[in-house]
Amino acid sequence: MSFDLVLFGGTGDLTWRKLMPSLFQAWRHGTLPPGGRILAVARDTLDDEAYRAWLYERLQEVEEAKRPSPEAFAAFSQQVHYLRMDLSRAEDYGLLQQWLCRGDAATVVFYLATGPQLFPVVCERLGAAGLNRPHMRIVLEKPLGHDLASAQAINRAVRSVFTEAQALRIDHYLGKPSVQNLMALRFGNVLFEPLWRRESIANIQITLAEGIGVGTRGDFYDRTGALRDMIQNHALQLLTMLAMEPPSSADADAIRDEKLKVLRSLRPFDAASVARDVVRGQYRAGMVGGQSVPGYLDEAKVPADSRTETFVALRCEVQNWRWAGVPFYLRTGKRLAQRHAEIVVNFRPLPHAIFPGRHQPNRLVIRLQPDDGLQLHLMASKGAAHAGQHQHEALSPVSLDLDFDRAFPAERVGAYERMLLDALAGRLNLFVRSDEQEQAWRWVEPILDAWSQDDQGPRPYAAGSWGPAAATALVAREGFSWPEEQ
Ligand code: BG6
Repeated sequence: MSFDLVLFGGTGDLTWRKLMPSLFQAWRHGTLPPGGRILAVARDTLDDEAYRAWLYERLQEVEEAKRPSPEAFAAFSQQVHYLRMDLSRAEDYGLLQQWLCRGDAATVVFYLATGPQLFPVVCERLGAAGLNRPHMRIVLEKPLGHDLASAQAINRAVRSVFTEAQALRIDHYLGKPSVQNLMALRFGNVLFEPLWRRESIANIQITLAEGIGVGTRGDFYDRTGALRDMIQNHALQLLTMLAMEPPSSADADAIRDEKLKVLRSLRPFDAASVARDVVRGQYRAGMVGGQSVPGYLDEAKVPADSRTETFVALRCEVQNWRWAGVPFYLRTGKRLAQRHAEIVVNFRPLPHAIFPGRHQPNRLVIRLQPDDGLQLHLMASKGAAHAGQHQHEALSPVSLDLDFDRAFPAERVGAYERMLLDALAGRLNLFVRSDEQEQAWRWVEPILDAWSQDDQGPRPYAAGSWGPAAATALVAREGFSWPEEQ
């Protein structure tokens, strides 16, 4: 299948940090369809050769395993081209049209790795230039808007030019192999489904912790904050996959219909529940991984009086028969103790204990990163003679530990690699539909509104910690604890 992949924002961070390394990996794995062309588009005055040289240098900064050798890059980069365009100028789309006409791609994908403020104008101009034909698709990077109204405006602009099936909203968390495995775990096995409900589950915790700070993205981040950057999209998408009803098939819309129902069932926030159930924090200077790091307010391009949150922990509930009363805790933050993303399903305690000693309730841990795996915590007998005063042996906690990289050593691919290949192939399952995305905004908006009325601002936490103490109190209130405290 020949393709043209057009990367708007061709000299931006996302392109060289994520998209190009992923395309290179796909090429190296032999999964990038041969004969395709990748066109980077930006405003800089460059030609193909100059762009390739620039890209090669940038790629020396990505993690070592993903860096191309000069020979491999020379072969891969034959597919990489460059076009100078000003995305706001209608005439420049004629240049793009001419470039596309020089090939005969069966599929054309426009990837908008630009700020969301450009999405409406780019869609309109593409439409005006006739670049919305049925074999053409558009990929929209997050953030998709800043709030519900701006997301709706973007969706209206996109819909006036492309059909829903042509518009792919990316949430790269859905491309992570461990997130794929959530579906496999729930709907490819009979074991968990009978337990996957309020009768057996005490609470579910989703932690997306990062050790890094805001780096060079201070201006973007300060306008965005952790709620918009991580909760509205990544954390809520994980929640929908955990809480959804079994879909009738694995088709994109069957899955997305069920995810949407979960979002619609989330208990809405008001000012009182935001004050009670949502904790926001902002990092101060501290130590992460043995290195001292500055506080958020001292980061480049961050105003000294910023009230932007770099940490959020919240408690929410899915109001339906399966989940009524089960707390879902979502937590994310920058400059936390380590890079660590996982989902913990805490089962209820035993109804009646017949063994002495402390019994730890069963726990299923789905690890997303740094490594990707599954742990099931059980209680077991050591089988050894015991010398205690009890007649029966106290049980000990043990875990079944599955490491997906070891189970499937060759096949694993990164999230962006997977998403890019799906976009080229027109597989929509892992992309977010506009109604899901708007519903997620509808749900987070009362939190943003309540914060804008609240003088308190975010609570400080030391870089390298697990966030403000109030986040510990949020779960402790119901007798629970975060995994690192267990
Ligand atoms: C992005 C956020 O969507 O996800 C970043 O904008 C964040 O702030 C990143 O660092 C985290 O992604 P990952 O795959 O490294 O966990």
